[in-house]
Amino acid sequence: MNVRAAAPVVSARGLHRQFARPGGGSLEVLRGVDLEIRPAESVAVVGASGCGKSTLLHLLGALDRPSSGQVLLGGKDTRTTADGELTRLRRQHVGFVFQFHHLLRDFSALENVLLPQLSVNGVTKAQATDRARELLDAVELKDRAAHRPAQLSGGEQQRVAVARALANRPTLLLADEPSGNLDDESTEPLHDLLFSLLVDQGSALAVVTHDKRLADRADRTMKLRGGVLHPA
Ligand SMILES: Nc1ncnc2c1ncn2[C@@H]1O[C@H](COP(=O)(O)OP(=O)(O)O)[C@@H](O)[C@H]1O
Ligand SMILES: [Mg+2]
Repeated sequence: MNVRAAAPVVSARGLHRQFARPGGGSLEVLRGVDLEIRPAESVAVVGASGCGKSTLLHLLGALDRPSSGQVLLGGKDTRTTADGELTRLRRQHVGFVFQFHHLLRDFSALENVLLPQLSVNGVTKAQATDRARELLDAVELKDRAAHRPAQLSGGEQQRVAVARALANRPTLLLADEPSGNLDDESTEPLHDLLFSLLVDQGSALAVVTHDKRLADRADRTMKLRGGVLHPA
Protein backbone atom coordinates (compact mmCIF):
# COMPACT_ATOMS: atom_id res chain seq x y z
CA MET A 1 0.00 0.00 0.00
CA ASN A 2 1.16 3.53 -0.68
CA VAL A 3 1.02 4.74 2.91
CA ARG A 4 1.66 8.36 1.92
CA ALA A 5 -1.59 8.48 -0.01
CA ALA A 6 -3.82 7.56 2.93
CA ALA A 7 -5.00 9.97 5.64
CA PRO A 8 -3.20 9.51 8.99
CA VAL A 9 -4.79 7.17 11.51
CA VAL A 10 -3.41 9.38 14.25
CA SER A 11 -1.67 12.69 14.09
CA ALA A 12 0.04 14.56 16.92
CA ARG A 13 1.07 18.19 16.65
CA GLY A 14 3.05 20.20 19.18
CA LEU A 15 2.24 17.76 21.97
CA HIS A 16 3.13 18.86 25.47
CA ARG A 17 2.46 16.86 28.61
CA GLN A 18 3.43 17.99 32.05
CA PHE A 19 2.81 16.32 35.37
CA ALA A 20 2.55 17.85 38.83
CA ARG A 21 5.58 16.86 40.88
CA PRO A 22 4.60 15.31 44.20
CA GLY A 23 6.82 17.82 46.04
CA GLY A 24 5.48 20.81 44.08
CA GLY A 25 6.24 22.32 40.71
CA SER A 26 5.79 20.51 37.43
CA LEU A 27 7.65 18.04 35.28
CA GLU A 28 7.48 18.69 31.56
CA VAL A 29 7.83 15.27 29.94
CA LEU A 30 6.78 16.02 26.35
CA ARG A 31 7.82 19.34 24.89
CA GLY A 32 6.45 19.52 21.38
CA VAL A 33 6.03 16.08 19.81
CA ASP A 34 4.93 15.86 16.18
CA LEU A 35 4.02 12.48 14.70
CA GLU A 36 1.75 11.11 12.02
CA ILE A 37 1.03 7.43 11.46
CA ARG A 38 -0.83 6.18 8.41
CA PRO A 39 -2.74 2.93 7.76
CA ALA A 40 -0.48 -0.14 7.66
CA GLU A 41 2.50 1.95 8.74
CA SER A 42 4.65 0.92 11.69
CA VAL A 43 6.71 3.25 13.87
CA ALA A 44 9.10 2.17 16.60
CA VAL A 45 9.70 4.60 19.47
CA VAL A 46 12.93 4.21 21.42
CA GLY A 47 14.50 6.23 24.20
CA ALA A 48 15.92 6.07 27.71
CA SER A 49 13.82 4.90 30.63
CA GLY A 50 11.66 7.74 31.96
CA CYS A 51 11.91 9.88 28.81
CA GLY A 52 8.14 9.78 28.22
CA LYS A 53 7.53 6.89 25.80
CA SER A 54 4.56 5.45 27.69
CA THR A 55 3.20 8.96 28.21
CA LEU A 56 3.30 9.47 24.45
CA LEU A 57 1.51 6.17 23.68
CA HIS A 58 -1.20 7.01 26.21
CA LEU A 59 -1.76 10.34 24.47
CA LEU A 60 -1.86 8.76 21.00
CA GLY A 61 -4.39 6.19 22.22
CA ALA A 62 -6.64 8.69 24.04
CA LEU A 63 -5.97 7.12 27.42
CA ASP A 64 -4.72 10.55 28.47
CA ARG A 65 -5.00 14.09 27.12
CA PRO A 66 -2.18 16.48 26.26
CA SER A 67 -1.50 19.57 28.38
CA SER A 68 -1.33 21.45 25.10
CA GLY A 69 -1.04 20.58 21.44
CA GLN A 70 -3.29 18.28 19.47
CA VAL A 71 -3.91 14.59 18.96
CA LEU A 72 -6.29 13.82 16.13
CA LEU A 73 -7.60 10.27 16.36
CA GLY A 74 -10.19 9.22 13.82
CA GLY A 75 -10.39 12.92 12.93
CA LYS A 76 -11.32 13.96 16.52
CA ASP A 77 -9.26 16.20 18.79
CA THR A 78 -8.81 14.19 22.00
CA ARG A 79 -8.20 17.28 24.14
CA THR A 80 -11.62 18.73 23.52
CA THR A 81 -13.61 15.50 23.18
CA ALA A 82 -15.88 14.67 26.16
CA ASP A 83 -15.04 11.60 28.29
CA GLY A 84 -17.82 9.35 27.00
CA GLU A 85 -17.06 10.14 23.39
CA LEU A 86 -13.34 9.59 24.05
CA THR A 87 -14.05 6.11 25.40
CA ARG A 88 -16.09 5.34 22.30
CA LEU A 89 -13.31 6.67 20.08
CA ARG A 90 -10.74 4.53 21.86
CA ARG A 91 -12.85 1.38 21.60
CA GLN A 92 -13.46 2.00 17.95
CA HIS A 93 -9.91 2.84 16.92
CA VAL A 94 -7.30 1.65 19.39
CA GLY A 95 -5.83 -1.63 20.62
CA PHE A 96 -3.24 -1.70 23.39
CA VAL A 97 -0.60 -4.28 24.23
CA PHE A 98 1.30 -3.55 27.45
CA GLN A 99 4.55 -4.95 28.83
CA PHE A 100 2.61 -6.89 31.43
CA HIS A 101 -0.38 -8.48 29.81
CA HIS A 102 -3.14 -6.74 31.86
CA LEU A 103 -5.49 -9.65 31.19
CA LEU A 104 -8.44 -10.17 33.51
CA ARG A 105 -7.18 -12.89 35.81
CA ASP A 106 -10.58 -14.39 36.66
CA PHE A 107 -11.49 -14.91 33.02
CA SER A 108 -10.36 -17.44 30.44
CA ALA A 109 -8.27 -16.56 27.40
CA LEU A 110 -11.42 -16.81 25.28
CA GLU A 111 -13.37 -14.48 27.58
CA ASN A 112 -10.51 -11.98 27.67
CA VAL A 113 -10.64 -11.69 23.88
CA LEU A 114 -14.43 -11.81 23.70
CA LEU A 115 -15.39 -9.27 26.40
CA PRO A 116 -14.02 -6.03 24.88
CA GLN A 117 -16.10 -6.69 21.78
CA LEU A 118 -19.34 -6.62 23.74
CA SER A 119 -18.90 -2.92 24.51
CA VAL A 120 -19.13 -2.13 20.82
CA ASN A 121 -22.59 -1.41 19.45
CA GLY A 122 -24.31 -4.17 17.57
CA VAL A 123 -21.89 -7.01 18.30
CA THR A 124 -23.66 -10.13 19.53
CA LYS A 125 -22.11 -12.59 21.94
CA ALA A 126 -22.10 -15.25 19.24
CA GLN A 127 -20.21 -12.97 16.84
CA ALA A 128 -17.75 -11.97 19.57
CA THR A 129 -17.16 -15.62 20.43
CA ASP A 130 -16.51 -16.53 16.79
CA ARG A 131 -14.06 -13.65 16.44
CA ALA A 132 -12.30 -14.57 19.71
CA ARG A 133 -11.89 -18.18 18.56
CA GLU A 134 -10.57 -17.04 15.20
CA LEU A 135 -8.00 -14.76 16.90
CA LEU A 136 -6.91 -17.39 19.41
CA ASP A 137 -6.40 -19.67 16.45
CA ALA A 138 -4.32 -16.98 14.71
CA VAL A 139 -2.07 -16.63 17.78
CA GLU A 140 -1.87 -20.46 17.98
CA LEU A 141 -3.69 -20.78 21.26
CA LYS A 142 -6.81 -22.56 20.13
CA ASP A 143 -6.23 -25.34 22.65
CA ARG A 144 -5.66 -22.88 25.53
CA ALA A 145 -8.98 -21.04 25.15
CA ALA A 146 -10.28 -22.17 28.54
CA HIS A 147 -7.06 -21.37 30.42
CA ARG A 148 -6.91 -18.42 32.76
CA PRO A 149 -3.91 -16.07 32.55
CA ALA A 150 -2.16 -17.77 35.51
CA GLN A 151 -2.40 -21.07 33.62
CA LEU A 152 -0.50 -19.67 30.61
CA SER A 153 3.20 -19.01 30.05
CA GLY A 154 4.44 -15.42 29.72
CA GLY A 155 4.66 -15.74 25.94
CA GLU A 156 1.16 -17.21 25.76
CA GLN A 157 -0.24 -14.43 27.95
CA GLN A 158 1.20 -11.84 25.59
CA ARG A 159 -0.25 -13.65 22.58
CA VAL A 160 -3.69 -13.51 24.23
CA ALA A 161 -3.07 -9.81 24.88
CA VAL A 162 -2.33 -9.33 21.17
CA ALA A 163 -5.51 -11.22 20.23
CA ARG A 164 -7.49 -9.04 22.63
CA ALA A 165 -5.95 -5.84 21.27
CA LEU A 166 -6.99 -6.84 17.75
CA ALA A 167 -10.48 -8.00 18.66
CA ASN A 168 -12.25 -4.79 17.67
CA ARG A 169 -10.19 -4.40 14.48
CA PRO A 170 -8.39 -1.26 15.65
CA THR A 171 -7.07 1.20 13.10
CA LEU A 172 -4.18 1.85 15.52
CA LEU A 173 -2.31 -0.71 17.60
CA LEU A 174 -0.17 0.65 20.41
CA ALA A 175 2.36 -1.69 21.98
CA ASP A 176 4.41 -0.64 25.01
CA GLU A 177 7.47 -2.88 25.32
CA PRO A 178 5.35 -5.89 24.33
CA SER A 179 8.25 -8.35 24.55
CA GLY A 180 10.05 -6.59 27.41
CA ASN A 181 9.03 -9.29 29.83
CA LEU A 182 9.56 -12.35 27.62
CA ASP A 183 12.36 -14.85 27.27
CA ASP A 184 14.27 -14.98 24.01
CA GLU A 185 12.34 -17.93 22.66
CA SER A 186 8.95 -16.23 23.00
CA THR A 187 10.08 -12.88 21.68
CA GLU A 188 10.44 -13.57 17.96
CA PRO A 189 7.07 -15.35 17.56
CA LEU A 190 5.37 -12.43 19.31
CA HIS A 191 6.99 -9.93 16.95
CA ASP A 192 5.98 -12.09 13.98
CA LEU A 193 2.40 -12.01 15.19
CA LEU A 194 2.31 -8.27 15.70
CA PHE A 195 3.40 -7.71 12.14
CA SER A 196 1.56 -10.52 10.36
CA LEU A 197 -1.78 -9.75 12.00
CA LEU A 198 -1.42 -6.02 11.47
CA VAL A 199 -0.56 -6.26 7.82
CA ASP A 200 -3.55 -8.55 7.36
CA GLN A 201 -5.96 -5.89 8.50
CA GLY A 202 -4.10 -2.72 7.54
CA SER A 203 -3.78 -1.32 11.07
CA ALA A 204 -1.11 1.20 12.00
CA LEU A 205 1.38 0.31 14.73
CA ALA A 206 3.31 2.41 17.21
CA VAL A 207 5.57 0.25 19.31
CA VAL A 208 7.84 1.26 22.18
CA THR A 209 10.74 -1.13 22.44
CA HIS A 210 14.29 -1.67 23.62
CA ASP A 211 14.58 -4.62 21.25
CA LYS A 212 16.63 -3.66 18.21
CA ARG A 213 15.25 -6.56 16.19
CA LEU A 214 11.72 -5.31 16.74
CA ALA A 215 12.63 -1.68 16.01
CA ASP A 216 14.36 -2.79 12.80
CA ARG A 217 11.14 -4.37 11.54
CA ALA A 218 9.23 -1.10 11.77
CA ASP A 219 9.00 1.21 8.75
CA ARG A 220 10.74 3.92 10.78
CA THR A 221 12.26 4.42 14.19
CA MET A 222 11.98 7.61 16.21
CA LYS A 223 13.96 8.44 19.32
CA LEU A 224 12.34 10.39 22.13
CA ARG A 225 14.89 12.64 23.80
CA GLY A 226 14.46 15.94 25.63
CA GLY A 227 10.70 15.67 25.18
CA VAL A 228 10.78 15.68 21.37
CA LEU A 229 11.07 12.99 18.67
CA HIS A 230 14.15 12.68 16.48
CA PRO A 231 14.63 10.29 13.54
CA ALA A 232 16.78 7.43 14.85
N1 LIG B 1 0.99 10.48 36.46
C1 LIG B 1 2.25 10.94 36.62
N2 LIG B 1 2.53 11.89 37.55
C2 LIG B 1 3.77 12.38 37.69
N3 LIG B 1 4.82 11.99 36.97
C3 LIG B 1 4.62 11.05 36.02
C4 LIG B 1 3.33 10.47 35.79
N4 LIG B 1 3.44 9.58 34.79
C5 LIG B 1 4.72 9.58 34.42
N5 LIG B 1 5.45 10.46 35.14
C6 LIG B 1 6.88 10.75 34.99
O1 LIG B 1 7.07 11.11 33.64
C7 LIG B 1 8.28 10.58 33.15
C8 LIG B 1 8.02 9.76 31.89
O2 LIG B 1 7.32 8.58 32.25
P1 LIG B 1 7.03 7.43 31.19
O3 LIG B 1 6.29 8.01 30.05
O4 LIG B 1 6.37 6.31 31.93
O5 LIG B 1 8.51 7.04 30.73
P2 LIG B 1 9.04 5.82 29.82
O6 LIG B 1 7.86 5.04 29.37
O7 LIG B 1 9.80 6.45 28.71
O8 LIG B 1 9.95 5.02 30.69
C9 LIG B 1 8.90 9.79 34.26
O9 LIG B 1 9.92 10.56 34.85
C10 LIG B 1 7.76 9.55 35.23
O10 LIG B 1 8.23 9.50 36.54
MG1 LIG C 1 7.25 3.09 29.72
